[in-house]
Amino acid sequence: MESKKFTRKDFLANTSKFAVGAVAGVAGLNMLTGTKAFAKSNNAEWPMPYTTIDPEVARIKAHTLFHGGKDCCAGTFGAFTDLLSEAGLEPWQNIPKEIMLFGRGGGVGWGTICGTINGGAAVISAVVSKADSGKLINELWGWYTTESLPSDQANSVEYEDKTYRDSLPQNVSGSPLCHASVSQWCNVANQPAASIERKERCARIAGDTAAKVAEILNDHFASTFVYTFTPPENNDICLPCHSSGQQYTEGATPANAFTHMECVTCHPDAHYADQVVGVKQVGAITPARFELNNNYPNPFNPSTTIQFALPESGKVRLEVYNIQGRLVNSIIDSEFKDAGSYKATWDGTDNTGSRVASGIYFARLTSANHMQTIKMNLLK
Ligand code: HEC
Ligand code: HEC
Repeated sequence: MESKKFTRKDFLANTSKFAVGAVAGVAGLNMLTGTKAFAKSNNAEWPMPYTTIDPEVARIKAHTLFHGGKDCCAGTFGAFTDLLSEAGLEPWQNIPKEIMLFGRGGGVGWGTICGTINGGAAVISAVVSKADSGKLINELWGWYTTESLPSDQANSVEYEDKTYRDSLPQNVSGSPLCHASVSQWCNVANQPAASIERKERCARIAGDTAAKVAEILNDHFASTFVYTFTPPENNDICLPCHSSGQQYTEGATPANAFTHMECVTCHPDAHYADQVVGVKQVGAITPARFELNNNYPNPFNPSTTIQFALPESGKVRLEVYNIQGRLVNSIIDSEFKDAGSYKATWDGTDNTGSRVASGIYFARLTSANHMQTIKMNLLK
């Protein structure tokens, strides 16, 4: 790193730049850091440079850094400072990964945003203009909330840190919050938050996220990136009233909701929450293949979202069965659907509207040519 002593002579020679007022304060700071580079009024050039990174290399790096004391946020971020430095790209050599240490445990243990996607978003923000980065970060965070993690790949690769080798249970968080994601996983895995297994689970997700960030950025710079994120459908129901921008007066709509997060996760009993139940078409692109995605959140209570894709129009059925194979709820009872992407919500009730017991249920999607089943866990 270039680091020159900032002498009094330099200071005098540059006084015209340091003028008066606020700038003089900046000059004072520069004296303390002793680095001439900081005397410039601008930061380093941005967006910073990026080069294609092998997602699998990023995965291993983030996992290693996690266990090397960098934890989730600086671990995911650090995979990129290391790999982009190794690729010889300035100013990556001058960016300490430790600036992201605050993000561990959802922000020094506060359980807010998952550190891995916080660190991953920082990498994206570093190398992509503001006009494009929101889209890429939405894709990353949307992926995180709807994907079964740690992924199968994360459970099967060889890591540098080999202290824990077994395959780990997976969950779909439905939320970008560390607290929601970790606590649900602890329930599924029957492991306390302080266990080695939970720690390894987060290390593997740091790897998953680093791999995903590399994928997103590689695609972005190759102009092959496809945006698939759709905000939670519930927000279409709640937000038109609750983010309308009006001032709150007695009896008026509190227009104070500001989030892409699923409303009913935290407001399960809110008015209109029942309207969330149903099937909605999302996205305009005709999907390439028939697909029934893992539901989210999973495990869930009281309701869960089931996303699916139909490459061709026709009659479909989406049904919930219990573990004995008995039909519990016909969410779509042999109805005609256009080709497209859909989101359905199951509210944990049977066909008579009664709430069903905790346990494992199966959702089965059937079309003329295809059938697919997912496993869902209702946990009260
Ligand atoms: C048609 C407009 C409208 C829609 C749609 C709507 N709300 Fe409201 N909401 C209101 C109004 C008006 C109030 C304040 C008056 C009241 O308490 O009923 C309110 C109050 C609230 C409150 C605060 C009062 C309380 O009950 O604690 C919450 C929380 C809330 N809504 C959540 C939601 C959620 C979640 C959704 C979507 C599932 C939603 N709302 C959909 C208009 C709406
Ligand atoms: C991560 C949990 C979480 C999510 C997700 C969430 N909220 Fe909230 N919301 C809260 C908390 C906590 C409060 C403040 C405490 C309270 O009033 O319940 C709040 C407050 C509110 C209020 C004000 C209540 C009042 O009394 O004035 C409204 C309205 C509201 N939320 C609507 C929404 C809507 C609409 C969404 C989805 C777009 C949403 N919330 C998503 C947790 C959440």
